[in-house]
Amino acid sequence: MNQEDKFKNVISHAKEYGFVFQSSEIYDGLSAVYDYGQLGSELKNNIKQYWWKSMVQMHENIVGIDAAIFMHPTTWKASGHVDAFSDPLIDNKDSKKRYRADVLIEDHIAKIEAKVAKEVNKAAGRFGESFDEAMFKQTNPRVSAYIEKIQGIEARMKSCLEADDLVGIKQLIEDEEIVDPVGGSRNWTDVRQFNLMFSTEMGSVAEGANKVYLRPETAQGIFVNYLSVQKSGRMKIPFGIAQIGKAFRNEIVARQFIFRMREFEQMEMQFFVKPGTEMEWYESWKKERMAWHLSLGIPASEYRFHDHIKLAHYANAAADIEFNFPFGFKELEGIHSRTDFDLKQHEAHSGKKLQYFDPESNESYVPYVVETSIGLDRMFLATICHALQEEKLEDGSERTVLKLPAILAPYKIAVLPLLKRDGLPEKAREILGDLMQDFMCQYDEKDAIGRRYRRQDAIGTPYAITVDHQTLEDNTVTIRDRDDLKQERISIDEIRRIVQSRLKVNQ
Ligand code: GAP
Repeated sequence: MNQEDKFKNVISHAKEYGFVFQSSEIYDGLSAVYDYGQLGSELKNNIKQYWWKSMVQMHENIVGIDAAIFMHPTTWKASGHVDAFSDPLIDNKDSKKRYRADVLIEDHIAKIEAKVAKEVNKAAGRFGESFDEAMFKQTNPRVSAYIEKIQGIEARMKSCLEADDLVGIKQLIEDEEIVDPVGGSRNWTDVRQFNLMFSTEMGSVAEGANKVYLRPETAQGIFVNYLSVQKSGRMKIPFGIAQIGKAFRNEIVARQFIFRMREFEQMEMQFFVKPGTEMEWYESWKKERMAWHLSLGIPASEYRFHDHIKLAHYANAAADIEFNFPFGFKELEGIHSRTDFDLKQHEAHSGKKLQYFDPESNESYVPYVVETSIGLDRMFLATICHALQEEKLEDGSERTVLKLPAILAPYKIAVLPLLKRDGLPEKAREILGDLMQDFMCQYDEKDAIGRRYRRQDAIGTPYAITVDHQTLEDNTVTIRDRDDLKQERISIDEIRRIVQSRLKVNQ
């Protein structure tokens, strides 16, 4: 199956089994807005808990908050979002499609990178074990020309974006003969900036309407509360504040399902450090966040770091953790060294001191900040894209299985009476009543047992407990593992301990 079909499968599977629905679908939907269904909200909650546990519970010096979505409008002036939170947009005059100009260029670079990868793969096959990739890239004329071209385009894009040179960006698109991915035309408008913040009005008109914004990142709620948290929690630098919450962006190009949405959720952590130590912390958080992703069992080859070509207005270093989505490697999480930009700006705009008194060095300073910021919806998408598999079994049959990390699966256990009679449903419900106090469980007695196993495979339930006639005699059940399909006979008293220990191993 090609990657495009695989992605279509993910979207239809997510809908069919109640993970993700188009928002307001009965009215033909609202562009780039989605609702999470009964299984999707469980998966999403489990991702949140897994992140919160590793960031807040497992770190003595990180605490969590829950700030409001609406903030004083000056917040966004101070943070630079009113003036600078915009994307360069370009329209194609023939197809009438709208694009982010920088994304068009990045996609063009990705195509050249794919050509490099193809040549490298071919050569690796030819030369076998003795293949030296770095040497090949340097010496093969075609490949080195591709690499030089990529570097040239990246350098031009960086300097144009940094200088806000929109004419230069259009020129780059024209020079590279980049065509509209939909219509194939090169009939482009000029490039212009488009602010991504949504705004609304607070207060009645009589009182004087006041423009407020829907926050485009959760981070500012942390910055404006940092001193209150530090003082009330007696936090000592270095320390972190974490938050999970909604963010809103009026994205120009909102395609690819829940990858780029207009309403989404972020899991962010701001780590406050002594000025001058931020680069050490930046490197340390890059490592720690990558380790978090790998702890979920997805192979390292599916992730990579990507240093930002253009740094955001607040950063002195920034990298993305990219995931290999069916549409290519794309940003999943950002790690940013944000300097003291935000806190200094809030000091200037509020007139309040936001300095930290360091009892160790006896000095006051505005801390520097290293941020980790992951999109919850993107993490959901990465997880489900990797998990959804079509498998051929030993007996020749096929199954659709969602191999979610067990700790994230919506239901942990399915309780299934083998037959709908002979007292088996009653016994199964007794077991269910006990297990559901500790685990999300599902009971199913409809259809043949094989079909019920397939239904649980499709929603990613890692363990199925089957109650049969032997259960009534000796209080044992079978436990079936979703991934290796092995079935073991165990005592009912042991179910809880066994499932708990397997969930830990998978963590
Ligand atoms: N506070 C820093 C910040 O917001 P960002 O790189 O703009 O940085 C962080 O966003 C993460 O939020 C991204 O890595 C991505 O996972 C997620 N994200 C950003 N825009 C998104 C969108 N429109 N839809 C879904 N997720 C998004």
